[in-house]
Parts: sequence; C-alpha cells; structure tokens
Amino acid sequence: MKDEDGGLEGVVAAHTVLSEVDGAAGRLVIRGHELGEIAQRWHYEDAVALLFEGFFEKLPDAAALRSGLGRARREAFERLQANDDAMLRKLPPIEAVRALMARLPDGDELATALRLVAAPAVYTAAVMRWRLGVQALAPDDTLPQAADMLRMLHGRAPTGAQVAALDTYLVTVCDHGLNASTFAARVVASTGAGLASAVLAGISALKGPLHGGAPGPVLDALDAIGTPANARAWLEEAVAGGQRLMGFGHRIYRVRDPRADALKGALRRLSADGGVNAARFELAEAAEKAALAILREKKPDRALETNVEFYTALLLEALGFGRESFTCVFAAGRVSGWIAHAREQVKKGRLIRPQSVYVGPAPEEAEAALAH
Ligand code: CMC
Repeated sequence: MKDEDGGLEGVVAAHTVLSEVDGAAGRLVIRGHELGEIAQRWHYEDAVALLFEGFFEKLPDAAALRSGLGRARREAFERLQANDDAMLRKLPPIEAVRALMARLPDGDELATALRLVAAPAVYTAAVMRWRLGVQALAPDDTLPQAADMLRMLHGRAPTGAQVAALDTYLVTVCDHGLNASTFAARVVASTGAGLASAVLAGISALKGPLHGGAPGPVLDALDAIGTPANARAWLEEAVAGGQRLMGFGHRIYRVRDPRADALKGALRRLSADGGVNAARFELAEAAEKAALAILREKKPDRALETNVEFYTALLLEALGFGRESFTCVFAAGRVSGWIAHAREQVKKGRLIRPQSVYVGPAPEEAEAALAH
C-alpha cells in the first residue's frame, strides 16, 4: 500500500476485541459497552477487569483486582529511592514518571500487569508533590485506585464527587482502538519484549502534543484568552498564525469525540457539587463555541470537532492536578489498554514488521556525489 506521508490513515494493522472507534458516528465501544453507558457508573477497576478478561490466567473479579492493585501501588511506592526527589523533580512530570516506570521489570503475567497499572498513579502523585517541595505519600491499599491517587496527590481524603469524576476520566480514556501509543505498545509487544517495555513505548508515544500532550496547552490557551468576550479574536489570530487549536480535531472522528461529552458530563456533575470554578467553565464553553465556528469557516474541507483533550483539561484542573501532570494522568488510565493490547498482540498476532520503500540515492549516485 502506498503511504508516503499519510500517517497510515485508513490502514488496518490489527484485529482487536478491545475497542471500536466509529469515527463517522462518533461512537466508542469498549468490549461491547458503549462509552456513555459505563463512563458515569464504573470504577477504573471495572474497566481494567473488562480489558484484561481472557488475557491472563486466573483473572480475579473486580473486587479482588482492587486489592491486588492496592498491593501493587504499595510495591511501586517501595521501589522509590532516597534521591529520586532531587533527581527527578526538575524533569517534565511525564519524563519523571517514565524514568520511574523504566525500573519495573518485564514479564507477561498478571502481577507484572497490575504493577504497571498501579505505578503511574503512585508516581504521578509522588512527582507532583516533589515539585511542590513536599514528600511523596505512601498509598492506602484499601482504597480504590482513583480515590487513592487523589489522596496521594493532595494529602487529604477526596470527596465522593471528586473520586467519581476521576473514575469517569480513567474509564473514558482506558482504551481507544489503534491510537499512536497503543500501536507503539503493540509493536514492542510483538517482539516478545514484555509488558513493561510495551508500556514504556506507550508512554513515550503518548507524551507528544498531537496525542496525549494537548490538554496542558488547552489551559494555556484559556489563560491567554482570559474572558469569553476575547475568545473569538484570540482564536482567530491563532489560526491565522498557523497554530493548531489544542483540543480540536481528530484523525478518526469526523464528528464530536464521544469522550468529550463523557468528560463534560463529569465536569457538570462535579460543578453541581461545587467542585468547579464557574467562571472557568463559562470561559471554556465560550472558547469551544468560538473555536468550532472558526474551524468550520477556515477549514471547511476537514470536519474538526472538540476532542477528548479539551474537557480533560478542565476536569483535571478542577481535580487539582497541575497542568504539567495531565499526560501522566492520561497514562494512568490508558495503561490498562496498552497492556490488554500487548497481550492480545502476543497471543494472536505475529511480529509487526512493515516494509518501507527506499527513495534514497543508488550506490553509484552516492559515490558520484562523494567524488564531487
Ligand atoms: N486546529 C487548527 N487546524 C487544524 C487542527 C486544529 N486543532 N487540526 C487539524 N487542523 C487542520 C490542519 O492544519 C490541516 O489543515 P491543512 O489541510 O490546511 O494543512 C487539516 O486540518 C488536516 O489536519 P491533519 O494534520 O491531516 O489531521 P490529522 O488527522 O493528522 O491530525 C490531530 C489529527 C489530532 C493531530 C490534529 O487535529 C491536531 O493537531 N489537533 C490539535 C492537537 C490535539 O488536540 N491533540 C489531541 C488529539 S485527541 C487525543 C487522542 O485521541 O490521542
């Protein structure tokens, strides 16, 4: 197939039972469940159990998985070393978390998988606390992962509404077809390298602004816009200057990203509980409306709609995650999808090894060039 610069658009590179992204209908199905049906009701542990089903021997039910994850968080925390704070606090948080994750051993069994699902929650909280000059907090292994992640970050028990909002976020982003980071994880898994290596590949691909690195810049844009009345002028100037509006557009979705609605719903519920700054929400809605109008006018040939990152930014900000940590929180949710895809690849697939077409010089041309 010819794909000189098409980013493999339209190429089918895997068959999966894990999730279906229907870009024309704006629909996401995760193992037979519509996202809208599970995002509001499920805990992250339910999503992990669903994704892992059939890929590990003796997979426990969601309740036992919750205790297993609690123990794995404790184990991840115990791996921290005395000088990690000084060494890692100056790195961008996603690079610090990646460095800590790189210490985890490879393997293909459930214990390895649980450790990898638990670790980003522990390390994100630790790294964000180090940046504030305070000590990392040990996990409470009796709590569900979302509640413990917020507790480890803030040093106090979160409200029920905050836990529900983070659960919605983690469930919403747990899997999404063959996105760039999942593809990277599957490529690495296909070599037999093991789950930790596959997860590291996923984290590395996720951190780019065209994938999981966009929500921080969404808030930067909102800060620069300042007031709802300024939204149109600011965004118009940005597009005229060739900038991409962060939180808009998607390779697959040609209509609104269903994850944006799931997260906006979570934000509304958190707002009803007093957990969201009303002026910020109003500014975001004004910016979204203006951005969509501008993109329709300026890019009429491409359907550019709100994507997952726009309301991710608002929701994670309301939960008190610093914007530099948003990609780490994304990784804490997507890690279960990477692992399930890695296992699926190993069980059902072959080594991923596509071909390239050589367009460089022939040896005689290279030699002639050297002679000059
Ligand atoms: N703002 C302005 N113009 C845009 C945007 C945007 N957000 N997205 C695409 N375009 C334009 C692009 O400039 C191009 O215009 P032209 O044909 O005139 O050069 C046209 O639309 C097609 O763009 P593309 O690069 O072919 O689209 P893509 O499918 O490769 O890119 C994308 C998808 C998500 C990388 C892109 O829409 C983008 O850069 N969005 C902003 C960053 C962002 O929000 N990233 C998070 C993605 S969602 C998270 C996830 O699921 O991973």
